[in-house]
Amino acid sequence: MEPDTTRKDTIFIILLTFFIACIVGFSGYAYWVLLDTKAKLESELAHTKEEYASRSAFLLENIDVLQRLLATTTSKRDDLEKTLREEQVLISAMQLQVESALGTVGTLEKLSTTDTELLKKYSRVYFLNENFTPKTLEVVPSQYVFQPEKEKKVYGEMLPFLFELLNDAVGDGIDLRVLSAYRSFGEQSTLKSVYSVLYGAGTSNRFSADQGYSEHQLGTAVDLTTKQLGARYTAFEKDDAYRWLMEHAYEYGFVLSYPKENTYYVFEPWHFRFVGKSLALRLHIENKYFYDLEQRTIDQYLISIFDR
Ligand code: DAL
Ligand code: ZN
Repeated sequence: MEPDTTRKDTIFIILLTFFIACIVGFSGYAYWVLLDTKAKLESELAHTKEEYASRSAFLLENIDVLQRLLATTTSKRDDLEKTLREEQVLISAMQLQVESALGTVGTLEKLSTTDTELLKKYSRVYFLNENFTPKTLEVVPSQYVFQPEKEKKVYGEMLPFLFELLNDAVGDGIDLRVLSAYRSFGEQSTLKSVYSVLYGAGTSNRFSADQGYSEHQLGTAVDLTTKQLGARYTAFEKDDAYRWLMEHAYEYGFVLSYPKENTYYVFEPWHFRFVGKSLALRLHIENKYFYDLEQRTIDQYLISIFDR
């Protein structure tokens, strides 16, 4: 072998060895970089997972706190509403007291000229003297009477309230008509006798008062129907007119006397009694009926019965 050839081979081997060493070195370095990156990514992932878990726990805790806060707020709001209703009742009672304290002469005069019978509980509780007739009776305009040829009368001072109620009902598309209004002691007696003959005493007692016990003798009670229903007023409960009255009658001082399951008579969705705006408002706010209240509580409202 020539010396030149031997040198070339040696150089080649050295270069090859260097090249292989470079490749091995670079591969090792690349592997190390990959391992390092993987470790970093895994650590970041673990950290992110931890953070996510901690945030989720925080959010869940917040949701729980908010839910509890909402429940407390709702209950507080309910309490406030209840207090507000009670306050309204107190205010209206105080207004009455203040008015009666301030009114002095006017109040006394008012009391002396107001029929004390107007806010008594009849319907088998109080007896209305057979001589009682309203101070003044006025004719209900015939366009509001179901059978216009039959004159219907009501307590004079009550007519403007009834008139306003009927007018506003018409404005709301409710065609109310008065079917029955004032009935004297004698008329009630005749009516009851007729019912007793037709239906028997037991049945007629469930829907018709004896003379002296009917709110109709006061002149402040009315039986209402609509133009369409007429005498089929037993269907009144299902009618828009009844819904309208239950929503608005109190605004004019009227209340339903005989609701479902009352202890006096059958449910009479058509029979409304004028008790004055203050008392009607109180009953509406407290979701009560006239006969639910004590007579002495009701009596406080007599003075303001015709206040507008
Ligand atoms: N229908 C009622 C109870 C009355 O006769 O007065
Ligand atoms: Zn009636």
